[in-house]
Amino acid sequence: MNVREVCVVLYFLLFSVAYIAAKQPNIVFVLADDFGWNDVGFHGSEIKTPNLDRLSAAGVRLDNYYVQPLCTPSRNQLMTGRYQIHTGMQHQIIWPCQPYCVPLDERFLPQILQDGGYNTHMVGKWHLGMYRRDCLPTHRGFQSFFGYLTGSEDYYNHHRCSLITPLNGIRCALDLRDGEDVATRYTGQYSTELFTQRATDIIQQHQANKPLFLYVALQAVHSPIQVPEHYVAPYSFIKDKPRREYAGMVSAMDEAVGNISRTLQDTGLWNNTLFIFSTDNGGQNLAGGSNWPLRGRKWSLWEGGVRGVAFVTGPLIEQPGTVTRELIHISDWLPTIAGLAGASTNGTKPLDGFNVWDAISRGKASPRVELLHNIDPLYDEIIPCPGDNLSGAFLQESFRSSASRWISLGSRSEFNISVHAAIRYKNWKLLTGYPGCPLWFAPPSGGPVTSSTLSEPLKQVMLFNIEQDPEERVEISHQHPEIVNFLLKRLHHYQSEAEPITFPPDDPRCDPGPSGAWGPWQ
Ligand SMILES: *[C@@H]1O[C@H](CO)[C@@H](O)[C@H](O)[C@H]1NC(C)=O
Ligand SMILES: *[C@@H]1O[C@H](CO)[C@@H](O)[C@H](O)[C@H]1NC(C)=O
Ligand SMILES: *[C@@H]1O[C@H](CO)[C@@H](O)[C@H](O)[C@H]1NC(C)=O
Repeated sequence: MNVREVCVVLYFLLFSVAYIAAKQPNIVFVLADDFGWNDVGFHGSEIKTPNLDRLSAAGVRLDNYYVQPLCTPSRNQLMTGRYQIHTGMQHQIIWPCQPYCVPLDERFLPQILQDGGYNTHMVGKWHLGMYRRDCLPTHRGFQSFFGYLTGSEDYYNHHRCSLITPLNGIRCALDLRDGEDVATRYTGQYSTELFTQRATDIIQQHQANKPLFLYVALQAVHSPIQVPEHYVAPYSFIKDKPRREYAGMVSAMDEAVGNISRTLQDTGLWNNTLFIFSTDNGGQNLAGGSNWPLRGRKWSLWEGGVRGVAFVTGPLIEQPGTVTRELIHISDWLPTIAGLAGASTNGTKPLDGFNVWDAISRGKASPRVELLHNIDPLYDEIIPCPGDNLSGAFLQESFRSSASRWISLGSRSEFNISVHAAIRYKNWKLLTGYPGCPLWFAPPSGGPVTSSTLSEPLKQVMLFNIEQDPEERVEISHQHPEIVNFLLKRLHHYQSEAEPITFPPDDPRCDPGPSGAWGPWQ
């Protein structure tokens, strides 16, 4: 290259760097907790969500969008862009006294964005481990954090009760922090309002010379069912008390989203902001949630556990007012957001997520055709599944005691079909082992929450065409043995590269004492 060519190249390099810097969008990500498929207005719920309906109507609703069936795993995949089997976290959630967190050599989304020039802030629920300070949000890429570290707590006094050991009994203690400091001043403030206030403060104080990444992981609408009475008043027509109060919790959350988006508009940030709303997993019918007409619920690999409510909105979307039917997964946010931010994913371990921006914004085909829902050889359902002889415990036991039945697919392709697993390929979904509570929970509006019964017993290998049969009512493995074999081979492939499961026993040193707060103890 001669001098002139070098100059031309340099000019274009500088120009594109400046261009990216000027265009880096603000990213505001609101994650709802345990918000079910049938709990949002735009899915026909009896619960009113005018802000979610309006914002999503002006953006893109994700209609074929998947999350993990539980809190820790969904958040883990959001932060790392990687499947649970690759972080050793395929089993359950992190309980308060378990000494582990997402492996410290995983690079988190906020670290990527901070290195890409962003200010990074988090409000709300962490639930990605906290036994050591290194595990806290402020050590994993967030410049500020206001929220709680465990998976659930009281909405007003911000206390979490948890069993230390059978001998030490149950400890109730505060779980609320501002940065790494215990935050004692907020007793009595309803968390949906408290976290919204902090989120809007961050937006108002944001200096527009840098792009903003704000992650708002609301406590709403996870159990316990707690809500100020005025949010419940419009729902006197719902006879079922848990559902009625849950509806009030959803209204408070909807108002929170309205307040956050309005603050973005009032501050002038909105015109360069991408606003993402997602649930972390399906609803829990025992705590007022509903996934009807989808099968199952939180903690299961049925669609009710993993098919998530989500939308993306803001002026950056090229085809607003659309619904995408493209396959999208929570692990896709990391590469998608990093791509929009012009931030490098260099330094991450191999990603399972895809950049799905063209599918969301431009109506293109998703690069994702396959989705591993999970493989968890230790799966157990800790919440009883209704129905006498259909109880979860009974079903799980009968699956386990049938020993390990292996399907042989040739010398090196064997997958133990008694293992809890599910995989999606295009329209096909294969489930093995016991997927979790298999019932359809009828809509509770007007009456008590009831469940419909199973028309046929579960099988160890089940295949559904989700496009034609989103409710998973017609099991068709016998009609498509070649697809069953293909998907079992894929499961075998994934299992062969899975990390060993990390699920340590409780460490009694977690006990914060009667006046302490949950937090790092090592
Ligand atoms: C939304 O903002 C209004 C007005 O400031 C406030 O009264 C309300 O409590 C806020 N709602 C939430 C959920 O924070
Ligand atoms: C966005 O809003 C700000 C503040 O109102 C304004 O200065 C800026 O020009 C706007 N940008 C675009 C792309 O409209
Ligand atoms: C990517 O990371 C590696 C190792 O950390 C480093 O050597 C390399 O320079 C980085 N590349 C870019 C483009 O940042």
